[in-house]
Amino acid sequence: MAAADCVLKLGGSALTHKGRRESARDGALRSAAGLVRELCAAGAGRCIVVHGAGSFGHFQAKAHGLASGSPTNSESLRQGLCLTRISVTKLNHMVTEQLVMCGVPAVGISPFGAWRTAGRKITQAGIAAIRDSLEAGYIPVLHGDCVLDSEQHCSILSGDTIIEVLSREFSPKRVVFLTDVDGIYDRPPDTPGATLVDSIAVNADGSIDPPVLTSALPHDVTGGLALKLQTAINIVTQSNGSIPVLICKLESEVAKRACLTGELRTGEGTKLFLRQTEETTSVIASGWAG
Ligand code: ATP
Ligand code: IPE
Repeated sequence: MAAADCVLKLGGSALTHKGRRESARDGALRSAAGLVRELCAAGAGRCIVVHGAGSFGHFQAKAHGLASGSPTNSESLRQGLCLTRISVTKLNHMVTEQLVMCGVPAVGISPFGAWRTAGRKITQAGIAAIRDSLEAGYIPVLHGDCVLDSEQHCSILSGDTIIEVLSREFSPKRVVFLTDVDGIYDRPPDTPGATLVDSIAVNADGSIDPPVLTSALPHDVTGGLALKLQTAINIVTQSNGSIPVLICKLESEVAKRACLTGELRTGEGTKLFLRQTEETTSVIASGWAG
């Protein structure tokens, strides 16, 4: 399987007004598209874009209980799934359209259908469509979605969870999460005294140093920043540190350098790396063991 230059996550908080139903931030959509165009121009266009749902999909998913589903697969659940998909694919259309308008060969690819879960755990990942699109010179644009679940009819598949699978399948040089804040803070950024954490050391057992406190909005059905942080930790540990994870602000000068070189200077964002021990050093020397 050919490797990707970068897996890029466009955060739902950055792309949308999270508290306002189905409200996209036009400036953020343009920034994201401009960034991907610059990556292509710099010869690093072999990337996969995944975006969150933000204020699209979450309200509908919550109203119909899609995250927990139901083994009896009721009419209301089906209706909720259809409405949620209309909403999340609306945002995917907007993101993809903006990319194409900027000259990026982007194609929207929805997880529904090709990805499946059982009791919320992924049992099938639609890798072929992504690989074929990449190899044909397109930039796949995936998104958090609801998918069929063999135990509870349906479940929510977060963009962050998709990224974890893509990191395993495509061994990107780096994974970059672009959000509405500068990076990960030691506590929610709206809390007095919150400080940006420049780097987070991930231990082989998945624990991190320094510790981080997070918060999530009540209508967020996929866990907010805590899930993102867990995803980032998983990518670092599963790749034995060969895939660095960077978190920085979407609408910033920093984002392009982070995607192209993996460099983040002090105060520019957060980088997660594997804390080296004698054991991990020898595994890294022998490559990806995930
Ligand atoms: P999505 O998951 O919707 O795609 P996202 O990538 O934009 O969205 P969120 O899950 O919304 O990410 O997380 C970003 C938000 O998390 C920020 O708006 C911030 O207010 C909040 N947050 C909570 N705790 C922290 C923390 N310790 N550091 C940074 N942000 C935090
Ligand atoms: C949620 O996707 C998809 C829905 C069906 C609601 P994400 O988990 O990727 O969305 P964000 O990250 O919270 O915006």
